[in-house]
Amino acid sequence: MTLAGKRIVLIISGGIAAYKSLDLIRRLRERGASIRPIMTRGAQEFITQLAVGALSASHVYTELFSREDEQDVGHIRLARDCDLIVIAPATADLMAKMANGHADDLASTVLLATDRPVLVAPAMNPKMWAHPATQRNVSTLKADGINLVGPMAGEMAESGENGLGRMTEPLDIVAAVERLLDDAPKPLAGKTAIVTSGPTHEPIDPVRYIANRSSGRQGHAIAAALARLGADVTLVSGPVTLPDPTGVKTVHVERAEEMRDAVISRLPADIAVMVAAVADWRTVAPADQKIKKQPGEAPAPLRLTENPDILKTVGHHKYRPKIVVGFAAETQNVEDNGRTKLERKGADLIVANDVSPETGIMGGTRNSVKLITKTGVETWPDLSKDEVADRLAQLIAGRLNGG
Ligand SMILES: Cc1cc2nc3c(=O)[nH]c(=O)nc-3n(C[C@H](O)[C@H](O)[C@H](O)COP(=O)(O)O)c2cc1C
Repeated sequence: MTLAGKRIVLIISGGIAAYKSLDLIRRLRERGASIRPIMTRGAQEFITQLAVGALSASHVYTELFSREDEQDVGHIRLARDCDLIVIAPATADLMAKMANGHADDLASTVLLATDRPVLVAPAMNPKMWAHPATQRNVSTLKADGINLVGPMAGEMAESGENGLGRMTEPLDIVAAVERLLDDAPKPLAGKTAIVTSGPTHEPIDPVRYIANRSSGRQGHAIAAALARLGADVTLVSGPVTLPDPTGVKTVHVERAEEMRDAVISRLPADIAVMVAAVADWRTVAPADQKIKKQPGEAPAPLRLTENPDILKTVGHHKYRPKIVVGFAAETQNVEDNGRTKLERKGADLIVANDVSPETGIMGGTRNSVKLITKTGVETWPDLSKDEVADRLAQLIAGRLNGG
């Protein structure tokens, strides 16, 4: 219940993504938040007051000049009696009104009258988003201290066009809300962290590559957990299908050499957590053209060469971070291999896990790890990857702060 007791005013404006705000209401309430919804006229063309009212278990506010609503809560109390105002979806029109201080309906008036933080989740056609007028308004809103989440790139629901303009998915909006309302201590404030995540892809030719089963779930969760504790996190991610975690700078790479360069160029840092399943080998010379199958001929052998060892490079670098954590994915002798890795790579801590297929860890959502340090081994119970991430982030914070 990360949002227990938090009071959120949710403004829904008239975009096609309004249907997603129904799910957003559910997700926010699941986490303990109470919702007071405001719908613009436009929003009511896309979803009904009935659905919004039922899901939020609240009266739905729509009119500025409503005698009952003014007597009951009133627009000034609506604007102030909350911890956060979220606008999802935020239309180009509503953002323009906000940027220019208009107050000609309930939503815009509440937004002008509020002294509470505001989170905007824009959703519009890519051309509307890219328009200089919208971009001017975005700059103004940012300068006014308004928080933005998204938009995302992808296919538009109604036109099928591709580009920047999709509303951020409800769960990612929830994560942004949690970050804004998070009043937990920030033991990693002022610290910088580099996290690697996912697999690497080593090309064979323009269409084929060598890869592994890493999903990036654990690395991404660790990046997000360190950020929640206040660290300034750069996530260097191999090819994954996960969204970039919120509150983290994500750099996308494909090959191990690119990952090494991205990591090294970001040193010095206070913390390095090398979670990526970096391919040990790459092809000596990837072909420029697709290698054709020749009937009757045996396949050409793949000539491999060793990839850079990123953890070892970081562990022995002149700008070595104060805490270097490595991951060891093993299918046998987990503890012994982890201990050897700790020494060879110059790490302070190895998180070793058994990734034999029957464990379901690689690519799955749970993890069962052993923490190997110079002084001993600690076995953690079976946990979700998010829980492993939170525990590890706390442990790093404790060590960095002298614990
Ligand atoms: C089918 C349809 C879809 C629309 N989708 C969007 C949208 O995704 N984003 C947007 O900014 N405007 C969109 N519009 C235009 C807005 O609804 C319009 O600008 C309206 O005045 C917004 O009012 P509001 O900001 O008060 O809700 C759409 C209009 C129609 C007819």
